[in-house]
Amino acid sequence: MSLPEYISNIHTFLVERGFPSNIDAAIILGSGLGSFEEHIQNKRTIPYSEIPGFPQSTVTGHSGSLLFGEVTGKNVLAFSGRFHFYEGHSFDKTIIPVQLSKSFNIEKLIISNAAGGINLTFQVGDLMIIRNIMYPHIDLPFKKENAKLVELEQSAVKVQEIANQLQVPTKTGTYLYVTGPNYETKAEIHAFRYLGGDAVGMSTAPEILEAFRLGIKVGAISLITNAAAGITDQKLDHSEVKDAADAKKDVFAKLVKGLIQEF
Ligand code: HPA
Repeated sequence: MSLPEYISNIHTFLVERGFPSNIDAAIILGSGLGSFEEHIQNKRTIPYSEIPGFPQSTVTGHSGSLLFGEVTGKNVLAFSGRFHFYEGHSFDKTIIPVQLSKSFNIEKLIISNAAGGINLTFQVGDLMIIRNIMYPHIDLPFKKENAKLVELEQSAVKVQEIANQLQVPTKTGTYLYVTGPNYETKAEIHAFRYLGGDAVGMSTAPEILEAFRLGIKVGAISLITNAAAGITDQKLDHSEVKDAADAKKDVFAKLVKGLIQEF
């Protein structure tokens, strides 16, 4: 089956389950940030496991379901859980949420993730607006879309304005993409800082590039859930992702709602 046919079959399945065929905005909820679901009104929730041929999300902190509902009067598609390369998905699978969103003619995509802070001025719990991405040691198959990243810089300015209006404090910076699954070494983080990375994570870069290829407007936000490897003596594991996300869920929701409304 060709990719357009695959996406179109899933689209038809969802419309038969009551999703409208056009939706205003989509959001990909990063690790631990699934609690945004509670802000979606009149929602329909379909576990990924019930969607024919859909990849499965295997990561703790991701519920693995697709939601449709209303947020601040807009129709929204929400992916509670995404597909990472480190779970064994091909790069092509990591961008299925973006392609499916496009089939609903969404105008904008909001992408969120949990990330480690490389920038020494960042604190756990900071929200970083992604102004640029880099993946210095990965040969991502989407590189030809790099030229469009200037659009991300422009959208970061708009996201910043909305955050300011809402009085949500934010940082801005460059997201450095790694494939994982392991956290980085102290030496890698040291090098990544020299290269200009502000936060490190295992998602988002392929999604941003695909969204730009498809002509979708993107706002992308990282929640800094830990200081990246070697900055403190703390051993990293997934638990701080959940703790930081829980502590910041209200302010994150405020910003995302503002973006759905205005961005
Ligand atoms: N490294 C990579 N990915 C991450 C991190 C990190 O420190 N924290 C959350 N996601």
